[in-house]
Amino acid sequence: FAMSEASPRRPSGTYHLEAGAATALAGMTAAARADGVRVRVRSGYRNWTTQNASYQRAKRNYPQNLSFYAPAGASEHQTGLAVDLWDGVTWSLPMANTATGKWLFRHAHEYGFVLRYPEGKSKITGYHYEPWHHRFIGKADAMKFKNNSLTLEEYLGLA
Ligand code: DAL
Ligand code: ZN
Repeated sequence: FAMSEASPRRPSGTYHLEAGAATALAGMTAAARADGVRVRVRSGYRNWTTQNASYQRAKRNYPQNLSFYAPAGASEHQTGLAVDLWDGVTWSLPMANTATGKWLFRHAHEYGFVLRYPEGKSKITGYHYEPWHHRFIGKADAMKFKNNSLTLEEYLGLA
């Protein structure tokens, strides 16, 4: 993606996500809670300035881990369709083994979210495995991503 800095104002209280993504996230969070699983948002919409600061900080401090970071203008977080989810306690790769990580792995597609950077697909996506990063694409399409091995690039015929 290539996006400009300009971005329309979004409502508060929804992590500034696009309306469809925010509604789906609320439904997914409620369903997880009904299963006894806590889903918290670590990061939602990010503007160009925030994304740039994050990338530049990573470049300075974690240059060996840059495949976890998108340069400003290239992050899905700038679209308001991507969200980083966790349980509020366990972050980074161990998040995948928490109840929250497991629940999302199994159910996120039912709410229109896909695991955008699956394990073993870095050559296709350009990013390291990120068990927390979910991209809203709508339920009809997301249902095709059931086993979390398909990438959006493959689904769209771009890889
Ligand atoms: N962590 C993902 C790649 C992003 O910064 O958009
Ligand atoms: Zn993310």
